Amino acid sequence: MIPVIEFKEVSKTFPKKDGGRQTVLDRVSFSIPPGKTTVIAGGSGQGKSVTLKLVLGLMRADGGRIFVKGEDVTSIDGRALEQLRMRFGVLFQGSALFDSLTVYENVALPNSTAMRTNIRPS
Ligand SMILES: Nc1ncnc2c1ncn2[C@@H]1O[C@H](COP(=O)(O)OP(=O)(O)OP(=O)(O)O)[C@@H](O)[C@H]1O
Ligand SMILES: [Mg+2]
Repeated sequence: MIPVIEFKEVSKTFPKKDGGRQTVLDRVSFSIPPGKTTVIAGGSGQGKSVTLKLVLGLMRADGGRIFVKGEDVTSIDGRALEQLRMRFGVLFQGSALFDSLTVYENVALPNSTAMRTNIRPS
């Protein structure tokens, strides 16, 4: 069965203000299977949000490969990146919910018929 998301030896390092470097992901590999709810848990600052941003192409990995349903999305851009993002519903952790909608409706919003009709890659 093809994983929904797969990381192979993915690394991400940030420069620090003091001139040093902070490695947040060090050759991380994992697979997210289809049809199951998967949780990534960890202490604050351990790289959960960075992991999600790498999947969505909001950040680029320094090394390794990222696959979505078997497609290598590690360095896609332009229309392919827009189409990748349209396959995801994302709620970021700060003030991100429409309080008139349920949590499910918030997550499902990008996939609603109205959004698909009105927002398309040009
Ligand atoms: N754009 C960035 N520039 C520099 N450092 C960053 C950047 N984004 C994240 N970091 C650093 O990477 C580390 C991991 O951050 P991340 O936001 O992924 O943590 P997290 O696991 O989501 O934490 P939390 O549970 O608090 O949300 C942190 O030390 C953070 O300061
Ligand atoms: Mg986070």
